Amino acid sequence: MHRDFPIDFLWGAATSAHQVEGGNVNNDWWDFEHAAASAAREPSGDAIDHFHRYAEDFALLRQLGHNAHRLSLEWSRIEPAPGEFSRSAVAHYRRVLTALADTGMTAFVTLHHFTLPRWFAARGGWLGPDAVRVFARYCQHVAAELGGLMPFVCTVNEPQMIALHGYLEGYHPPALTNPVLWKRVGRTLLDAHHAAVGAVRAASPGSRTGLAVQLPLLSPIRDDPAGHAFHRTMQHEIVDLYLDGLTGPDRGDWLGVQYYRKQWVDPASPTLFADPPPGTPVTQMGWAVHPHGLRVILHRAAATGLPLYVTENGIATEDDTERLDYLDGHLTATAQAIREGVDVRGYLHWSAFDNFEWSEGYRPKFGLIAVNDDHTRVVKPSAHALARVAAAGRLDV
Ligand code: NOJ
Repeated sequence: MHRDFPIDFLWGAATSAHQVEGGNVNNDWWDFEHAAASAAREPSGDAIDHFHRYAEDFALLRQLGHNAHRLSLEWSRIEPAPGEFSRSAVAHYRRVLTALADTGMTAFVTLHHFTLPRWFAARGGWLGPDAVRVFARYCQHVAAELGGLMPFVCTVNEPQMIALHGYLEGYHPPALTNPVLWKRVGRTLLDAHHAAVGAVRAASPGSRTGLAVQLPLLSPIRDDPAGHAFHRTMQHEIVDLYLDGLTGPDRGDWLGVQYYRKQWVDPASPTLFADPPPGTPVTQMGWAVHPHGLRVILHRAAATGLPLYVTENGIATEDDTERLDYLDGHLTATAQAIREGVDVRGYLHWSAFDNFEWSEGYRPKFGLIAVNDDHTRVVKPSAHALARVAAAGRLDV
């Protein structure tokens, strides 16, 4: 029978600790959410209480046909003070990862997904003198303790976005708007990835280690020589630097591709990006949907020679029919890339649940599953659509 996706393709969804767990009170985000002049519109609070509800959440995702799941560990829980590791936090994550393994789903475990322990942030965060070494120490500890439960380890989530949002655009902590420092931070995070690959490999040789990069389809806002020159510069800073940086002995075992949208770059904008041209339909985030871009990006990512997993792709919308269209468009683009020879081995939707969307708070709805105020979960039709494609390995179901 005809298939659009390989028989052993991994299907699932992604979350991150701070966005779903609740009560992450010892990290830089908690402080940012509660600061007087913060760009964050509301605090994360209890999030969706995944910290306590992980077992039922995993059971629900398994019922929806997922055979893989991506989550992150909260560094501030595991290492609440420099060099002091919490046995009870490690034991918690051991229970979480065991519950996940017991469902039969393959775990993708992210070690750093945007949040930093308060003490690490106070020492300068990614600008601190020993940031890479300190991060690698945490990674080594986690891999030694939990490596057997982490078939796939993602070192750093979206280094470029950490750099842009936190150090240039100023709407993630440490809320800097510095046209020079963001570039430095991006390169430091690439170093942090390489150091983490070494640390995880040494402590848990059976884990496959990779980096998750957000790769937008970039386009110049102006069709003139200056616009095109700037587009080339940004293509280097946001895409090529990271993909070309994954070569060499510490290159890792796989690459996570995170794709959401088309973006226009603008040399005249302080944030380097322009709003979508007038008339472009946008999501709750103001993002322009462009499914074909995923196919283009997967071909570009294939040049690394690494096996690819789509580790995030999704849409913020109150209207689940828009999510159904988005899913269909992006799964079609993924299947086309596979047909054209790109080695894509999995698709993890962002997100499993509606959750805490950083500075935007709880307004944007990215989930396949809604969450009521009392934290009960409600499956959306799009979750069933993904389940049908996953079960058949085909788009026309
Ligand atoms: C990227 C991030 O990894 C994730 O935390 C975020 O919620 C989604 N994209 C949507 O913005």
